[in-house]
Amino acid sequence: DIARRLWPYFRPFLPQILIATLCAVMVAAAQAAYAYLVGPAIDEIGVNRRQEFLIYIPVALVLVAFVKSTARFTQAYLLRVISQRVIRNIRRELYEHIQSLSLDFYSDAKTGDMISRVTNDTLLMQRAAPALAQLFRQPLTILFLLGVALYRNWELTLIAMATLPLTAYAIDRLGKKIRKHARRGQTYIGRLAAILKENISGIRIIKAFNAEERELARFERENERTYREGIRKALFGELNAPLIEFLGVLAAAFALAYGLHQVVSGEITIGTLSSFAAAAGLMADPVKRIGRVNVDFQTAFAGAERVFELLDTKPSVREKPDAVELPRFERSIKFDGVWFRYRDQWVLSDVRFEVRRGEKVAIVGTSGAGKSTLVNLIPRFYDATRGAIYIDGIDLRDVTLRSLRRQIAFVTQDVFLFNDSIASNIAYGSQDRGMDRIVEAAKAANAHEFIVELPDGYETNIGELGAKLSVGQRQRIAIARAIYKDAPILILDEATSSLDSESEREVQKALDNLLVGRTAFIIAHRLSTVKNADRILVLADGRIVEEGRHDELIARRGEYYKLYQIQFSESGIDR
Ligand SMILES: Nc1ncnc2c1ncn2[C@@H]1O[C@H](COP(=O)(O)OP(=O)(O)OP(=O)(O)O)[C@@H](O)[C@H]1O
Ligand SMILES: [Mg+2]
Repeated sequence: DIARRLWPYFRPFLPQILIATLCAVMVAAAQAAYAYLVGPAIDEIGVNRRQEFLIYIPVALVLVAFVKSTARFTQAYLLRVISQRVIRNIRRELYEHIQSLSLDFYSDAKTGDMISRVTNDTLLMQRAAPALAQLFRQPLTILFLLGVALYRNWELTLIAMATLPLTAYAIDRLGKKIRKHARRGQTYIGRLAAILKENISGIRIIKAFNAEERELARFERENERTYREGIRKALFGELNAPLIEFLGVLAAAFALAYGLHQVVSGEITIGTLSSFAAAAGLMADPVKRIGRVNVDFQTAFAGAERVFELLDTKPSVREKPDAVELPRFERSIKFDGVWFRYRDQWVLSDVRFEVRRGEKVAIVGTSGAGKSTLVNLIPRFYDATRGAIYIDGIDLRDVTLRSLRRQIAFVTQDVFLFNDSIASNIAYGSQDRGMDRIVEAAKAANAHEFIVELPDGYETNIGELGAKLSVGQRQRIAIARAIYKDAPILILDEATSSLDSESEREVQKALDNLLVGRTAFIIAHRLSTVKNADRILVLADGRIVEEGRHDELIARRGEYYKLYQIQFSESGIDR
């Protein structure tokens, strides 16, 4: 239940909530005091003509007003602050949680929706803050006013409450409708965000294929749905207050008629009736507000549901509670009968091999053979479905993710650089940021020369450069990053495949520097890299079908030889 899930977030603010509640009691009491004062005001001044009340009543009014305003401000402000803090904490938790989710969770559709949950849905929750203030105040106000009304005339009060059950029923029904449509609306907003995210990152392709209108239509479809849910929510939301008011006035009219009858027959004074009428009149507003509160709360709950849904998704790669630190890599990495599948199709089948420290292993195979999948298991981006991977005899699943990933540097084909300075990008993820080491890494990565020619050298911001860096330059920054990290295990996933031969030569020199003294897994389409490897694993349909050095494999005239014919010889020269 949403309220119960929200409570832990509010519990730390219990003292403030209690103060706010106390203030709410004061506001409600003050409100009732107004109604109560109408009685003596009319009877003592208007009917009995007692002079001293001309002083008492205004003074009492001012006092009541002062108490009420102070308490009201304190209560409303406190609750706003509390809800801001709660949302801040929830947002932080969401962010942490999203980062903990495994790679299988990430896709454009899901990330767009996630962004929407962190931003839109939390905002929806936050907007319920004023409603939260009302939630305490209005029922209390009604209670106090009811006290005054009952005290003045219980018969009239009961008549005035005749439609209350109906009102409660209506509020409940409308609330459910509102929540339903608010939730759907948020789902569509999430889809809008997903489409937007995809379109922005794919803008080149959209333009190149003249697909603007097609994408617009896709956007419009979800936009239209969002709109429709908004309208439905508005319908039920706006029905709330008028319906409540109408039902209230209906009962009040009967009560008033009966009350006038009592005044005429002399059973009650005109002051008593007026006081009752004031209480009843003052009650109309809080009752309407409760209706409004209901709308805001149901909307906020719809947001909260989506927030908790995201918080409830469990990462598939998890650290054991008793995970140990992986000591610095010393001896070997061993795949022991590793099977893997993303969904139902096996992508890796019974992969077995062992790599000793310092070995450079090339992994080759046709597209879709499972090369990337295989190396992604080493930093535990995914976990093996069956079998295990050991580093120095320790199962990867028994060590902390931090201690594992600290020892691995990853360079991929599509380089990701953060919107920060070049220096920060090279030192990314490291605690220290030694400029000497950054320059050293850049030099080894063959990147120093072009970096110093940039407007601000190492302090040049990547974001400001926009797309000005070439693929090769970006890749060399990524290599510098890997050199800076100085991890014993290196994974290169087609780090050079999209480069022309000139920049490839540059990158290759950088890579050679990076490889020195490390244990490396290299997925490459470049023959020279593969040729120089200590060992080549040939992957076909997720199985290791051949293993050995270049010459041995060529001599075998098997799978590798075929690949060699297609992939390397076709491009002509042994570059
Ligand atoms: N995230 C994923 N979800 C589901 N299936 C996937 C995912 N990633 C890869 N696959 C599938 O797993 C198989 C192996 O993919 P993988 O990326 O490991 O191949 P690869 O050998 O690296 O190919 P390439 O040389 O083209 O990069 C493919 O059939 C692919 O469709
Ligand atoms: Mg791949």
